[in-house]
Amino acid sequence: MGVVASAPAKVILFGEHFVVYGEPAIVLAIDKRAYAKAEKRDDKRLYLRSVNLNLAGYFENGTFKVEQDDAKEAKLKFEPVKLAAEKVLEIYGEKVGLNIEINSTVPVAAGLGSSAAVAAAVTAAVGALLNVEMSKEDVFRITYEAEKIVHGTPSGIDPAISTFGGILLFQMDTGFKPLDVRTDIPLVIGDTGVERPTHAQVAKVRGIRERYPRVVEPVMRAAREIVLRAMDALKENDLETLGELMNINHALLYGVGVSDESLEWLVNAARKAGALGAKLTGAGGGGCMIALAENERLEQVLEAIQRAGGRPFIARKTDEGVRIERT
Ligand code: PMV
Repeated sequence: MGVVASAPAKVILFGEHFVVYGEPAIVLAIDKRAYAKAEKRDDKRLYLRSVNLNLAGYFENGTFKVEQDDAKEAKLKFEPVKLAAEKVLEIYGEKVGLNIEINSTVPVAAGLGSSAAVAAAVTAAVGALLNVEMSKEDVFRITYEAEKIVHGTPSGIDPAISTFGGILLFQMDTGFKPLDVRTDIPLVIGDTGVERPTHAQVAKVRGIRERYPRVVEPVMRAAREIVLRAMDALKENDLETLGELMNINHALLYGVGVSDESLEWLVNAARKAGALGAKLTGAGGGGCMIALAENERLEQVLEAIQRAGGRPFIARKTDEGVRIERT
């Protein structure tokens, strides 16, 4: 019964923050996915349920009626899902009622792109349910629209990686380029559990850059060099170099003020436990860090991050972007 679609979460491997000023960044889709199930209803309601957030309710004539938990929070969380479903209905050309159930394994508000993964999965599920022809570019466009509700003016990294999967090189002026990487990239992701708004972190870097332009300029250039070297290392399956570059990238991010104590504990614990490299990922100031480790060291690194107070899990690259799981 119904159609199930899924889409992956992401981590930024290199280049966060500096990407805002035109430098390149490398983003990786991970094997943690958000799932969306879509079914038709007999009435015209849009009924939404999130299993993991324990929220449910429905939109009817523009208002949101909650059936579970806090109405305001639910409306906020469901707004992008509603937009994604409505955009597909627009293409379909007829208003039909839908049940949409979301089931996500991606930690929320941790910089892993959970909202984009959910929006991409919903878009694909509703499209397949209604037999609407949609290319991946169409899914990307709708997911990007939905993300604008959540993040204002996002770069588009999250919708792109959730839709296309794999590894993408991203730069503001040139957009996305898939990187052909054959190697496995074994990571431990450590969630500090500290929540931070991305815009505050971006503003912090802007402030430092404005106060010390001639100091920060070479930092930006170094970040670009890291990405260029990392592209070679990825091609050559050179995990050791990647690890070292991650350590240098973290130092640059620390330098512009976006690490914090919770991240430092986890990054240091991972390195001590034998990780090839470790860095914060995404906006910083809390959120998540990533550690790269040989397969036989992964458990050790995971345990060290846990002992240091983080919530760790092992993640791997996935080449599968948004996909239909079941029709
Ligand atoms: O933590 P996230 O996934 O929201 O990452 C933000 C990445 C930044 O480079 C800090 C901001 C941006 O828009 O690229």
